[in-house]
Amino acid sequence: MRIQRVLLPLLGEALIGIASAAIHDLNDAVAAAPIVPGAYIVELHDHQDADSFYGDLAAANVEAERRLDLSYSLFKGYSFRLKNVSNDDADVAAQKISEMPKVRKVWPVRMRSLPKDEVVWVGDGAAASLALKRRQESAEDTFSPHVLTQVDKLREEGFTGTGVRIGIIDTGIDYKHPALGNGCFGPGCLFSYGSDLVGDDYNGLNLPAPDPDPYDNCEGHGTHVAGIIAAQVNELGFLGAAPDATMGMYRVFSCVGGSSDDILIAAFNQAYEDGSDIITASVGGPSGWTEDPWAVVVQRIVEAGVPCTVSAGNEGSNGLFFASTAANGKGVAAVASIDNTEIPNLLISASFSVDNSSEEVFGWELGNPAYTNVSLPLWAVSNNTEAEDDACDSLPEDTPDLSGYIVLMRQTSNCAFYQQAQNVADKGAKNIMFYSNSPTTAQVYVAYVPEILGAGMVTATQGTEWISLLNEGKPVVLHVTDEDHTSKLVESSPDTQYGGLVSAFTTWGPTWEVDVKPQFAAPGGNILSTYPLDLGGYAVLSGTSMACPLTAAIYALISQVRGTLDPSILERVVSSTASPKVWAEDASGRLAPVPQQGGGLVQAFDAAYMTTILSVASISFNDTANFIPSANFSIQNLGPDDVTYELGHVAAITMYTFEKGEIYPAYYPNPTADASATLEFSDSKVTVPAGGSVDVTVMPTPPSGLDETLLPVYSGYITINGTNGDSLSIPYLGVAGSMYSAPKMLDPDWTFLGNSSNPLNPAPENITFVVPFPANPTDIPSTRTGSPVAVIQLNVGTRLLRCDVVPLDNSGNVTTTEVLGVQTVGSVPNYPIEYSPRTYYISWFNGMPDNGVAVPEGRYQFLVRVLRIFGDPEKEGDYESLAMAPFNIVYS
Ligand SMILES: *[C@@H]1O[C@H](CO)[C@@H](O)[C@H](O)[C@H]1NC(C)=O
Ligand SMILES: *[C@@H]1O[C@H](CO)[C@@H](O)[C@H](O)[C@H]1NC(C)=O
Ligand SMILES: *[C@@H]1O[C@H](CO)[C@@H](O)[C@H](O)[C@H]1NC(C)=O
Ligand SMILES: *[C@@H]1O[C@H](CO)[C@@H](O)[C@H](O)[C@H]1NC(C)=O
Ligand SMILES: *[C@@H]1O[C@H](CO)[C@@H](O)[C@H](O)[C@H]1NC(C)=O
Ligand SMILES: *[C@@H]1O[C@H](CO)[C@@H](O)[C@H](O)[C@H]1NC(C)=O
Ligand SMILES: *[C@@H]1O[C@H](CO)[C@@H](O)[C@H](O)[C@H]1NC(C)=O
Ligand SMILES: *[C@@H]1O[C@H](CO)[C@@H](O)[C@H](O)[C@H]1NC(C)=O
Ligand SMILES: *[C@@H]1O[C@H](CO)[C@@H](O)[C@H](O)[C@H]1NC(C)=O
Repeated sequence: MRIQRVLLPLLGEALIGIASAAIHDLNDAVAAAPIVPGAYIVELHDHQDADSFYGDLAAANVEAERRLDLSYSLFKGYSFRLKNVSNDDADVAAQKISEMPKVRKVWPVRMRSLPKDEVVWVGDGAAASLALKRRQESAEDTFSPHVLTQVDKLREEGFTGTGVRIGIIDTGIDYKHPALGNGCFGPGCLFSYGSDLVGDDYNGLNLPAPDPDPYDNCEGHGTHVAGIIAAQVNELGFLGAAPDATMGMYRVFSCVGGSSDDILIAAFNQAYEDGSDIITASVGGPSGWTEDPWAVVVQRIVEAGVPCTVSAGNEGSNGLFFASTAANGKGVAAVASIDNTEIPNLLISASFSVDNSSEEVFGWELGNPAYTNVSLPLWAVSNNTEAEDDACDSLPEDTPDLSGYIVLMRQTSNCAFYQQAQNVADKGAKNIMFYSNSPTTAQVYVAYVPEILGAGMVTATQGTEWISLLNEGKPVVLHVTDEDHTSKLVESSPDTQYGGLVSAFTTWGPTWEVDVKPQFAAPGGNILSTYPLDLGGYAVLSGTSMACPLTAAIYALISQVRGTLDPSILERVVSSTASPKVWAEDASGRLAPVPQQGGGLVQAFDAAYMTTILSVASISFNDTANFIPSANFSIQNLGPDDVTYELGHVAAITMYTFEKGEIYPAYYPNPTADASATLEFSDSKVTVPAGGSVDVTVMPTPPSGLDETLLPVYSGYITINGTNGDSLSIPYLGVAGSMYSAPKMLDPDWTFLGNSSNPLNPAPENITFVVPFPANPTDIPSTRTGSPVAVIQLNVGTRLLRCDVVPLDNSGNVTTTEVLGVQTVGSVPNYPIEYSPRTYYISWFNGMPDNGVAVPEGRYQFLVRVLRIFGDPEKEGDYESLAMAPFNIVYS
């Protein structure tokens, strides 16, 4: 997120509203997650019971309100919130705690918000339950997300997830939904385990009120996610991808939204200890670092043998290097999104008959004016379903009187609906029906044409079917009823533009340490699934939140076929068989970059049966400064015959992180570069005996002639084609520039001393702030006039961000500490900040630094230092630094 002056009005509120913690999150989730003031997670070396741990705190004069007992086999610790920061300030206490011998690590508790998935539509439960099914349900799985990922082929063979335990971490579940348990929760039910970790009022800041029941009828996200995996037979005719799995739900968001790292850590650990075979979470927050406490926990669970899928995030608009936690954890499968090839539309149902035959159902979208009850034959303006000019001009002389027909015509961008309507009305038409590829997004409004009494729209598929019947000379009669006597049905129309391509919203990797993220992609754009009955029963949502559970279900199906749940094997077979997609933003046909789609669209059947196993899922060649000149992998042949594999390479588009002349990373669609890497192999062909394995070395030459200062990220796919027909690929990426030398980590235009009364404008040099003598570092002076504010815009993430208070001329009266070669009186509260994404911070100073000692009146300056990527935190020279304008502080 980048600061913009338009945030100013909002910020004025935020300054007053949110006390203490640095304000990280002003208008949406792309900024760094805010911190719960005074709250910490500690990890201990060994388990101690709560009384003994809190006893130690009390003995150290730290009074804490207990949050969560995080005592698990893979993580032993506590979360708590300091009670009294007025004489024992939070940072001082945290420092004290981190020095306690039993403590391994202390982290501030970050809040997490629900992913911002797009709600395309939400059904009306009563209407949906009346819906008639257009086509007779067949045993065949024709649900497009399943067809795209080959789930249909595994279903055909009888794989439905039986016996696999899948734990979901989300907003809870409406298990009263007929497709999700019909009121049954607990042993023997579809959702047989899990709990509510938060209660109905948790907002991330207050104390959670856990209970055993993860029921949700207020949020909906978790119910949608759950249906993607496990929906049972329902009136809309789709099923989950693993409908026979044993499901668990851990509710981490209440009805008011907002969760936090300690809740997520508890949920993952509980899901692990309850024996989940696979854990999935469609939750995240911008990071790019694997050291976040939550990512640390998920990595440990993966290392302990339980695969975890986490949504990559919906922040694609932010361009490269925006990887989200906990998806950015090593070994964690970060799932990107592909747009569905069919857009499910919620339509009104009506019927038609052909040649006096029995009535068939069709779906249509209401126009304006709405229809009354009519039963009339169709008359088509043209019998060409590609026509771009239906009724754009006056109809020919010999056109019959159209008053006794419903007139069918194609929506076109060449003329407006009302022009088409007027031209048919001139021939007597009163009722009209358009057909279009996107019937729900282009509502017909023709109320300008008074002769028209009813207007509507059907899908292009429906329109085409009618036209071909008419062309065969078969009369088609539509029976349309008024709005009050209709029921709803779901009918899909094809997405001919973006269907099957990578979703624009999907978050880009790699991590700041150039780890390959995301791993692969699954359909997440325009996905139909269940929704709480109280909210309508069914909905279409778009987000990586939808791609992630489908991948978890696919892991379950593959594990059934392969008989293993090993996270590394599953990641490798899924990645090597995934299908890379072309870049959606131009017609060049070049492949979309690995940092956008990972290995590409998951292919469940191929992954389940592939007998060629690669030793790596992906390869990072790192940046130029840490360039990996050769990487090895092995090809294992589990098949009954010797196989010769041909090694090759297909490059994806190279993308620049920055636009020329800009220091903030470019927004989507990123600027592209024309050069790509070349790869050499130790052998261009290798023969692997049945049951054997052969090592291969790959030696990359990064693209040349590119502007390294713009951090180009190159990527592509190593192809491995076997004589047995196996076709595999390994996604790779690298940076053709130095991460350490990233041009400007601090934005000089947006890193300055502000005044709390007007924080987004630089304060003049030598300004004097008159503030009340501070009682503690995190007290915000209540007046809007005058306290110093440090405004910091990070263009690049950093492992360590410092903001120290440096005395300028205090006549030698101040006590200072040397920090990286500079005498300081302490740091601005909440600094230093570890593992920051690229984001902005706006932080106060009231005269008391983090050490709890008010500075004497005098002249000071904020000194900001950002550790370069791959820099050494102990080395002064490894920081980019910026000294802000000097100011004077005087106590009122
Ligand atoms: C916090 O500490 C101050 C000073 O010792 C004391 O006056 C106050 O009562 C304490 N507040 C709480 C909630 O413990
Ligand atoms: C359809 O039914 C109508 C009235 O019942 C009749 O006049 C017409 O001939 C029939 N058309 C065909 C093709 O059977
Ligand atoms: C329209 O049709 C419906 C269903 O057949 C019927 O219940 C309703 O009364 C009709 N409305 C009018 C105005 O005739
Ligand atoms: C539709 O096609 C038929 C031939 O299949 C042709 O005779 C007829 O004129 C066409 N109608 C229109 C409106 O173009
Ligand atoms: C790239 O090199 C840096 C510095 O050695 C290292 O910390 C990082 O893990 C490397 N990244 C990868 C993906 O190998
Ligand atoms: C790859 O294998 C070759 C030959 O076995 C070896 O010399 C080389 O050091 C290996 N490279 C890496 C990066 O492990
Ligand atoms: C392997 O097959 C893929 C597609 O199936 C193709 O794009 C690639 O060029 C092939 N590689 C070699 C080395 O033939
Ligand atoms: C700020 O104060 C310093 C020290 O008193 C002085 O040297 C400098 O010129 C002042 N700057 C401005 C812009 O007044
Ligand atoms: C320095 O400290 C002494 C004793 O604490 C005090 O008398 C003096 O006023 C201080 N000087 C300044 C410039 O703050």
